Amino acid sequence: MSTAAPPQFNPFDPSFTETPYELYAALRDDDPVQYSELLCGWVVTRHDDVVALLRDPTVSSSVHSATPTPVTEIELQRLAEQPRAGRTVVMMDDPDHARTRRLMATPFRASEIEALRGRVHERMHAALDVLAERGRTVGGPSTRGTAVPVDFDLVEDFAYPLPVEIFSEMLGVPAEDGPKFRHWTQCVARSVDPVLPDDERDECLAGLDEMCAYLADQAELKRAHPADDLMSHLVHAEIDGERLNDLDLMSQLVTLYMAGHEPTSVLIGNGTLALTRHPDQLESLRSDRSLMRNAIAELLRYDGPNQFTRRITTRPTTLSGVELPAGAVVYAGLASANRDPRFWGDDSEVVRIARPDASKHLQFGAGAHACLGSHLARLQAEVAFDAILDRLVGLEVVGEPVVATRMFLRGLTSLPVRATITPRP
Ligand code: HEM
Repeated sequence: MSTAAPPQFNPFDPSFTETPYELYAALRDDDPVQYSELLCGWVVTRHDDVVALLRDPTVSSSVHSATPTPVTEIELQRLAEQPRAGRTVVMMDDPDHARTRRLMATPFRASEIEALRGRVHERMHAALDVLAERGRTVGGPSTRGTAVPVDFDLVEDFAYPLPVEIFSEMLGVPAEDGPKFRHWTQCVARSVDPVLPDDERDECLAGLDEMCAYLADQAELKRAHPADDLMSHLVHAEIDGERLNDLDLMSQLVTLYMAGHEPTSVLIGNGTLALTRHPDQLESLRSDRSLMRNAIAELLRYDGPNQFTRRITTRPTTLSGVELPAGAVVYAGLASANRDPRFWGDDSEVVRIARPDASKHLQFGAGAHACLGSHLARLQAEVAFDAILDRLVGLEVVGEPVVATRMFLRGLTSLPVRATITPRP
């Protein structure tokens, strides 16, 4: 433990955007359960504390359980302003949580998701075909039929649009409407930050309203004409006579878009950058694809999208010797826990795709609210990294990567690369 005063957690500090990992290390060492005046809550950064919190059946995910603070008051006011999406499974406690999750679960089981592999594969390779064609066009007629190096943005042109398109297809949204969700999901994602500048609020709420109105129309259609898609499953799902009512359905649809899209694209973007920065690991994976599943777990552990999730205590709770009162807002540091040497050992700050316990990472959370879409996220990442390794020859980063950080989600929004895109294998 150092004698200097521990640093204060501040998600608005530019150094947090650049890299939060040094700050996390200092907090873990010197102030692992830190009260933040700014957030009116406790910031928890050690692995074992984060796991204990997520697995504690007495903690709540609902802001309504919190002792009111200026930050929770703002959030409650916002929830009141968006009643159409306010009952998300993410913020429910039992028994509502267990009931809603059961109604949603079947299409997200491993076997159902595995059946989508062919469609995901087709989408990903079609996107690379378009980029390869762009290279041929730029290269001119003399290069027709030959693969030439092409410059593109691996996030904007590949990792970002694909998860939302794939999810829209899984949901059963008409293909031509898929692109609308790009703007809408950006609005919703921004609106979940605990402290949102006022000027962005109206735009976020307007986007959310449009999205809900569109999804409500689609739900009506599927009620009348069920098809083999996720939306039809959700509107007709029934267990022990219980169904999702209209309000719950809409909230879960928005949640699925929001929860699924950005983190998956960040996994592909951040993961690719991490591999290019660790060429020995990239080559190991290229030559031994049986490592893929473990490599994805390791990339999530090393630099995954989710920095925090939030819980509210409902009784006095002790973490690393600090007693939190009932009603305390606690920010559980998933990304920090994933680098904690107390759990991962001395090499916690480097990528090791064969790390034996990589699958114990916390990027998918833990406990009752653990990620419902983890099989879908993994499938997309597997197909994406396979496609990148198979078809992007001489892949190199040729510009400055751009990282966007919100307190809860951090990831690349731009990764300029150059590669020769070979035809499909
Ligand atoms: C790499 C990609 C992903 C990551 C890192 C991720 C991470 C997480 C985490 C950490 C949680 C728990 C939040 C908490 O405990 O408060 C969560 C919950 C959830 N995720 Fe994911 N997720 C990913 C992809 C997806 C996808 C593709 C979907 C579906 C389309 C999805 C749907 C959900 C849902 C519905 C929940 C709420 C579960 C509940 O509250 O019971 N996620 N995710």
